[in-house]
Amino acid sequence: TQILVLNGPNLNLLGTREPGIYGAKTLPDVEADCHAIAAELGITVRCAQSNHEGTMVDEIHAARDTCAGVVINAGAYTHTSIALHDAIAGTGLPVIEVHISNVYAREEFRHHSMIARACIGVIAGLGTAGYELALRAMTDHLKAGGP
Ligand code: DQA
Repeated sequence: TQILVLNGPNLNLLGTREPGIYGAKTLPDVEADCHAIAAELGITVRCAQSNHEGTMVDEIHAARDTCAGVVINAGAYTHTSIALHDAIAGTGLPVIEVHISNVYAREEFRHHSMIARACIGVIAGLGTAGYELALRAMTDHLKAGGP
């Protein structure tokens, strides 16, 4: 079983970008953690990051052939992208939305997600541990054969 961990715009800057909000770990640190958790869970992960909306759409489409589910931090596209919503809905893959920060404690423009209604669940505000929690939840979801 493989799960795609897809990070969106500006998440390549993790570790240096507003560390008070997003923490000290770099994206390679976070991805290494995902691989370690995957090994523990008996699954594999494919990690990808893009600053481009269309590339993220392509990644979600490609995941249909290679992955059983997707963990996505769509960054700012979360709040704007109907295209990402449609890609998630269109592939029918189970998707868990992750945010490192508590978007609900921040600016109003971060309070609405365009993609959440196409996702099976959302994790926000728990730091980069959110990716690990999402991988555990996705593994349970896939085992249960849930919707
Ligand atoms: C984020 C929250 C978004 O509002 C923001 O645009 C990001 C990161 C998070 O992980 O907390 O780029 O998705």
